[in-house]
Amino acid sequence: MKKNPKVSVIMSEYNTPVEKLDLLSKFDIQQVFQQNEIDAVLHFAASKSVNESVKNPLKYYKNNISSMVNLLEVMKDFNVKKFIFSSSAAVYGSTAQQPISELVDTQAMNPYGQTKVIGEDFLNDLYISDNEWSIAVLRYFNPIGAHESGLLGEQPNGTPNNLMPLITQVASKKRRLLYVFGNDYNTIDGTGVRDYIHVVDLAKGHVSAVQKLFSTHGLHTYNLGTGEGYSVLEIINTFEKVNNVDIAYKIVDRRAGDPPICFANPTKAKEELGWSAERTLEDMCRDSWQWEKTLENIILPN
Ligand code: UFG
Repeated sequence: MKKNPKVSVIMSEYNTPVEKLDLLSKFDIQQVFQQNEIDAVLHFAASKSVNESVKNPLKYYKNNISSMVNLLEVMKDFNVKKFIFSSSAAVYGSTAQQPISELVDTQAMNPYGQTKVIGEDFLNDLYISDNEWSIAVLRYFNPIGAHESGLLGEQPNGTPNNLMPLITQVASKKRRLLYVFGNDYNTIDGTGVRDYIHVVDLAKGHVSAVQKLFSTHGLHTYNLGTGEGYSVLEIINTFEKVNNVDIAYKIVDRRAGDPPICFANPTKAKEELGWSAERTLEDMCRDSWQWEKTLENIILPN
């Protein structure tokens, strides 16, 4: 078959073929399935900024939902029925039940979270229609950190919204100040509490979930978090101590829509996947800083 010029294939450093394509093109997805033997799909491709989703919901519905329908349709046509979905703690909205178990009702508070709820609903309906599917829905809490080699990490597009890339940019003097959104919450020191998880632990959660899909059918939903909540000031203090740097910050008003506390009950993933997060907050702060220093020294393609 003739290659589609819109699908570029490169070999990664580890000899893994990498095909770059747009999931909004069903034709391009079909080509990849025709040209490769695929047993399971881990679906990460989505837009993920809460702020942007409020300003431009159509982008989120198109990018996160239409693309997923295309992908699932092609999978069905090719009889590939093992699927891992990147969901988010955003599906829980602002619940008072902490730690949050998977049984808590979903109530997304913004279009980004809503796309994740809809994605989960699609998968549920799909499984009801055909129980040969094997699906894992992974609800990520707050991923931070980078690979400990300092060679793999996230390059934020423009100004970051999330706490850790802002901290690393203040540490590297790319940014003058970190604004801490509120110190009057009912938490240990008044600042917001979240469940931060190292990206390498998160990646390992996916490996465990893939193994599960090969041993059973069904639709399984798991929180991927550590089960520990840390406040913004605890993150800043740990980052300063571990990396021996100063983070200049200023307390400002609360950010609209921020829940005071959000942390996982990760018991289900431990019991059913044999997975739990192993890396500490110190590891997360050290590896995030290491990655920021790598970013300073290389020019990355956009
Ligand atoms: N924060 C600040 N200053 C900043 C940025 C963040 O004080 O400049 C605080 C927030 O108020 C919050 C904490 O740092 O208390 C973490 O904020 P993030 O923006 O890093 O993360 P969120 O918890 O708001 O959001 C994350 C993901 C979303 C996901 C959500 C699910 O970024 O994609 O978790 O709960 F939807």
